[in-house]
Amino acid sequence: MGLDVTFLGHSGFLLSDGATTVAIDPFLTGNPVAVTKPKDVRCQAIVLTHGHSDHMGDSVAIAKANDATVFGAFEIYEYMGEQGITAEPGNPGGKITADWGWVAFTQAFHSSSYNGRYLGMPCGAIVHLAGVTVYHLGDTTVFGDMKLLGEFYKPDIALVPVGDRFTMGPELATMAAELIKPKVAVPIHYATFPIIRQDAKGFAPKGIEVKELKPGETWRYA
Ligand code: NI
Ligand code: MN
Repeated sequence: MGLDVTFLGHSGFLLSDGATTVAIDPFLTGNPVAVTKPKDVRCQAIVLTHGHSDHMGDSVAIAKANDATVFGAFEIYEYMGEQGITAEPGNPGGKITADWGWVAFTQAFHSSSYNGRYLGMPCGAIVHLAGVTVYHLGDTTVFGDMKLLGEFYKPDIALVPVGDRFTMGPELATMAAELIKPKVAVPIHYATFPIIRQDAKGFAPKGIEVKELKPGETWRYA
């Protein structure tokens, strides 16, 4: 068992067990730190936390090129359906089972729209693949129920926004990771644009390994 975790930059990831690859928030075109080209992404599923362009990113093109299924909030599912893309609708609290694992959505305190269109509730996404549970917090501030989510889902890895302004900064992100208690926490949503923080300094949850990844870097979690 093992999971390859590739950071695409910003909030984007590829999770792969060798047989199945799941993309999360694949924002590549217009992402100044991305080193991966959308045409080089091979995946079976795309999980979206919310509809903002720095998360939806290249989802439509990647889904079409790979005949991949998009997992997202109900309104994202409707939008993808209009683009001719196969999608699975969800919302916080529900679990969606796939032949490779499952996806569950959580709440996130944020907003969600694309080109002025409302795209449902912003979410965190919990992805289970190859026996590993990954909690992508989406864009959010801390909330006390992160403790419950940690107790229930027992995530191995948490992907935690630390860039401030639109999400938590490092201090609140530290509190969030300490509530969730993953084995490893990866800081995300920083250093992409001048308007957000340029480093993850200060993100230092007690008792949790912090793993900083560079865009394009693959880390094997075993
Ligand atoms: Ni956002
Ligand atoms: Mn964002």
